[in-house]
Amino acid sequence: MNTPATPYGTLPPASTPSARKPMSLPRLREMHASGEKITMLTAYDATFAAVADAAGVECILVGDSLGMVCQGLTSTVGVSLETMRHHTECVANGLRRSHGVAWLIGDLPFGTYHESREQALRSAIVLMQAGAHMVKLEGGGWTADTVRFLVERGVPVCAHLGLTPQTVHALGGYRVQGRDAAAAQLLERSAREFAEAGAAMLVLELVPAALAQRVQVQNPEMVVIGIGAGADVAGQVLVLHDMLGVTQGKVPRFVRNFMAEGGSIGDGLRRYVQAVKQRSFPDTTLHTY
Ligand code: KIV
Repeated sequence: MNTPATPYGTLPPASTPSARKPMSLPRLREMHASGEKITMLTAYDATFAAVADAAGVECILVGDSLGMVCQGLTSTVGVSLETMRHHTECVANGLRRSHGVAWLIGDLPFGTYHESREQALRSAIVLMQAGAHMVKLEGGGWTADTVRFLVERGVPVCAHLGLTPQTVHALGGYRVQGRDAAAAQLLERSAREFAEAGAAMLVLELVPAALAQRVQVQNPEMVVIGIGAGADVAGQVLVLHDMLGVTQGKVPRFVRNFMAEGGSIGDGLRRYVQAVKQRSFPDTTLHTY
């Protein structure tokens, strides 16, 4: 029987239950242990979440990059928890309707985990109840204590080091982090503290590939996902609109336009998955620092 067409294109097509198993932390750890590269993309709505999942993307990040991508802001600093809740719910709905299996990560926005560990827990609960399986927060140092507090209360956490966009003003711009020995050492120490606090995943953004590799080797229990951090980590993430070539103006060096290579969005996303799995993306000479 033909399924009736869904109007407006805002809802994912009804599909039969996926043969793929739902993603879980044990499954992601297994993939990492076996050397299979993990793929992650951002998505902010139901349709793109379903398309990314159908292309085989294992993790979907509702990133606060939506401040720039969806809201037209100049940084992620102005994104609110309510906005993150709304988009997390949209993505979760899309995955549910399309029988998706992706692991869903919700970004805690600026100011929603800085006051206290209790504030962080309240914010995390909002995103988890909207459908996230895990929350992400930025920065080292004091945040390790917050990570431990959340993990002890059953909230899986992804930490984020290197270029942390919520502190772009303090960092002085979007530039490569951890280039000198002292900065690299500090980053390595923060990563270790996160692993000890129970962070299951770590996003490493815009750091030299050699440093990212060291962090992954030193913390084998933590799934390290790189963006502009080289190929020697457990997996890769890109902002969806960057890798589809939709982002206007100059894009960072670590971005590859997969839409230009594919005949459709779905094809572009499948090519991304394939390139990460086959280790042809990121390329050491083109996309790495
Ligand atoms: O907000 C986001 O999309 C992110 C990615 C760039 C990792 O944090």
